[in-house]
Amino acid sequence: MLPPPESSVYYMDELNKYYPGVVFGNSCAIMNPAYVKIAKSVTINHVSSIAAIIEYAGMTYTPYIEIGEGCQIGAFANIASCNKIIIGKNVLTASYVQITDHNHGYKDITKPIMHQPIESQGPIEIGDGSWIGFGSHILSGVTIGKNVVIGANSVVSRDIPDFSVAVGSPAKVVRQYDGNKKAWCKPGIMRQCIDGLR
Ligand SMILES: CC(C)(COP(=O)(O)OP(=O)(O)OC[C@H]1O[C@@H](n2cnc3c(N)ncnc32)[C@H](O)[C@@H]1OP(=O)(O)O)[C@@H](O)C(=O)NCCC(=O)NCCS
Repeated sequence: MLPPPESSVYYMDELNKYYPGVVFGNSCAIMNPAYVKIAKSVTINHVSSIAAIIEYAGMTYTPYIEIGEGCQIGAFANIASCNKIIIGKNVLTASYVQITDHNHGYKDITKPIMHQPIESQGPIEIGDGSWIGFGSHILSGVTIGKNVVIGANSVVSRDIPDFSVAVGSPAKVVRQYDGNKKAWCKPGIMRQCIDGLR
């Protein structure tokens, strides 16, 4: 069954009608599921919210959220889009991960920020096989590559390349796989490769 077109919030029991084969934990909600594509075999753990924002502060948006097959979305996730969020295949997110492709506009000093339109700095893409650590926040306009590790409590504000480990706020790459040396190395000019990670 196709999800209804817009302006709707759906909770667990109803979601199974629109997303057969997807496992939802307790108290999950999807706002505007017509704009949210979730592959079969995905698990969305409890109290997770997925919101496609089609209207805010008098502006309309055309959001799109896609979660690829085999993904495991941890509990208390918040995924919100007014632009585009693509999560590849077999991506694991720990609990309390936020993925939001927009900010509240703040430039108009005559209005409270909550009454100003939201603004996207660009779509978000998370590559196949990546792991997003506990409590991390992925910001607007960021592309995370394949098989990337994002350390716990990181704030990712810049692109992160394939096969790397990035940590902190803002997240910086601390390990990257070197295809020539076939080893995981610390980034920088004098690449130091790490024993035991070959
Ligand atoms: C990133 C992580 C996976 C470790 O990866 P690793 O390749 O073994 O990296 P290391 O432990 O060698 O750490 C590399 C550097 O990053 C730092 N670092 C590691 N994790 C960090 C984090 N979350 N935030 C900030 N710095 C971190 C280390 O202190 C170290 O710094 P140094 O080189 O100055 O000593 C781990 O620290 C982490 O954050 N795991 C997430 C846990 C989680 O969310 N679990 C939920 C289960 S689904």
